[in-house]
Amino acid sequence: MASWTSGVRAVLLDVSGVLYDSGGPTGGTAIPGSIEAISRIRQVGLKLRFCTNESQATRAQFVRKLQKFGFNISEDEVTAPGPAARRLMLEQGLRPHLLVHDDLLPEFDSIDKSDPNCVVIGDAAENFSYQNVNRAFQVLLGLEKPVLISLGKGRYYKETDGLMLDVGAYMKALEYACDITAEVVGKPAKNFFLSALAELGVQPHEAVMVGDDVVNDIGGAQSCGIRGVLVRTGKYRPSDESHPEVKADGYVDNLAQAVDILLASRTTDQ
Ligand SMILES: *[C@@H]1O[C@H](CO)[C@@H](O)[C@H](O)[C@H]1NC(C)=O
Ligand SMILES: *[C@@H]1O[C@H](CO)[C@@H](O)[C@H](O)[C@H]1NC(C)=O
Ligand SMILES: *[C@@H]1O[C@H](CO)[C@@H](O)[C@H](O)[C@H]1NC(C)=O
Repeated sequence: MASWTSGVRAVLLDVSGVLYDSGGPTGGTAIPGSIEAISRIRQVGLKLRFCTNESQATRAQFVRKLQKFGFNISEDEVTAPGPAARRLMLEQGLRPHLLVHDDLLPEFDSIDKSDPNCVVIGDAAENFSYQNVNRAFQVLLGLEKPVLISLGKGRYYKETDGLMLDVGAYMKALEYACDITAEVVGKPAKNFFLSALAELGVQPHEAVMVGDDVVNDIGGAQSCGIRGVLVRTGKYRPSDESHPEVKADGYVDNLAQAVDILLASRTTDQ
């Protein structure tokens, strides 16, 4: 039987909603079984990459937070939109005006920001003031050819105290006001998933993506030939299983169950 487990050599993991739920005074809590699930993936020698849309903090801060929750994870195992955007700036000679969270600013320390020729928007959270969003709008309209680069395009995400507007909602506001289309760096952009695979040295058909976002994680992965498994944690809602456009290759209660199924299939395959 062809299943989502056959021939898997690498596991790509979404972080928020799969490893932990964010929010609250400690910044979040680990989802039960997920810390052990990571160790088990490592023990059997599967390749592992964390693919996050997190753009509220630098990769280093993000990894430190996860380590504090008990996860065995290092910075060079994380694919995040901030570093991807920084690479793009360098490759294309772009000088950004940044509409991002204060904590993400250090990611762009080494980039020339004088006389901006593009705007970079991330999940700025409380830094999405009218003043800051309007300033980004003014910079865009002042450019001969406005370039807007968005660190992901999520609509909303879940924190312990409720659903929160994500960067996609603000990206759309700027697209509408300036009559432009943003370039998305991060999920669900194909390049984002493909660069994670390149770092692991595996082909799309050898990888599986586990996420809680049916469109951005599952649909995004599937669009480049990676299988997608939806977890029923994080922002998952039962209606995601009858999504009109995206059908996951598998559905599991949580990451621990995904790893149970994956490891069981390896024993029977061999
Ligand atoms: C953490 O992961 C690394 C890399 O796979 C491994 O070498 C190390 O033994 C792990 N540490 C723990 C405490 O499991
Ligand atoms: C971003 O938000 C923090 C916390 O509310 C605030 O202290 C800081 O001044 C803001 N920065 C900008 C550039 O708006
Ligand atoms: C990122 O996307 C995941 C789904 O992939 C979602 O659960 C999570 O809350 C999002 N986090 C942020 C900070 O946007």
